[in-house]
Amino acid sequence: MNNLKLFVVFCFLASLSHAIELDFCVGDPSLPRGPEGYACKDPASVTTDDFFYTGFRGERTITNVFGNNVTLAFSDAFPALNGLGISMARLDFGVGGVIPLHSHRTSEVLILAKGSIIAGFIDANNTAYYKRLQVGDVMVFPQAMLHFQINVGRTAATAFVSLNGANPALQLTTPSLFAGNLPVDIVEQITLLSHEEVMRMKRMFGTA
Ligand SMILES: *[C@@H]1O[C@H](CO)[C@@H](O)[C@H](O)[C@H]1NC(C)=O
Ligand SMILES: *[C@@H]1O[C@H](CO)[C@@H](O)[C@H](O)[C@H]1NC(C)=O
Repeated sequence: MNNLKLFVVFCFLASLSHAIELDFCVGDPSLPRGPEGYACKDPASVTTDDFFYTGFRGERTITNVFGNNVTLAFSDAFPALNGLGISMARLDFGVGGVIPLHSHRTSEVLILAKGSIIAGFIDANNTAYYKRLQVGDVMVFPQAMLHFQINVGRTAATAFVSLNGANPALQLTTPSLFAGNLPVDIVEQITLLSHEEVMRMKRMFGTA
């Protein structure tokens, strides 16, 4: 077979493997999970309620050190998103609250529903792009970039985000360094922070 024929065969096989064969694949969290997501719930047992999510209703209380309350509608909480490449989250901020520096595997688009926040991201060249948003304003955070939101108003604030992945992950920079199992000396080495500063942060997260 010459190269052209091989190429045509390859393209055919590749197109087959990406063919969409199901209208939906509501995740069944009781079945094993692979890199592409959950296995599908039996379509015969899928109902309208599978496609319906009420987790964003109601008020939020703010108790954590960052002054936020984040409600994720990722595929774990909303299994109908499985395989659809889309998810959402609700961000609530107390006065002075923040969503600290974090990243996802995906891009994110945010709309401010209440209050006034600064939203921004930092690119791989350490350039920061940030803006004060009014209700109704939209900001996009490109794929995998470190980003943050700060409530700069005198009241609570609420924003909703959508991410182009069903399970985009939420990796917070500060807790990743101080709330986990990384030894103090390694944190000092990879951040250039002093021993005292690392210990202060670890105490704040209850890991020292
Ligand atoms: C977020 O708000 C809900 C509803 O008030 C509350 O049950 C939950 O504990 C809060 N989460 C945090 C982390 O404060
Ligand atoms: C990176 O940032 C520096 C300093 O702000 C700037 O001079 C340079 O043009 C930037 N490079 C890119 C690729 O954006």
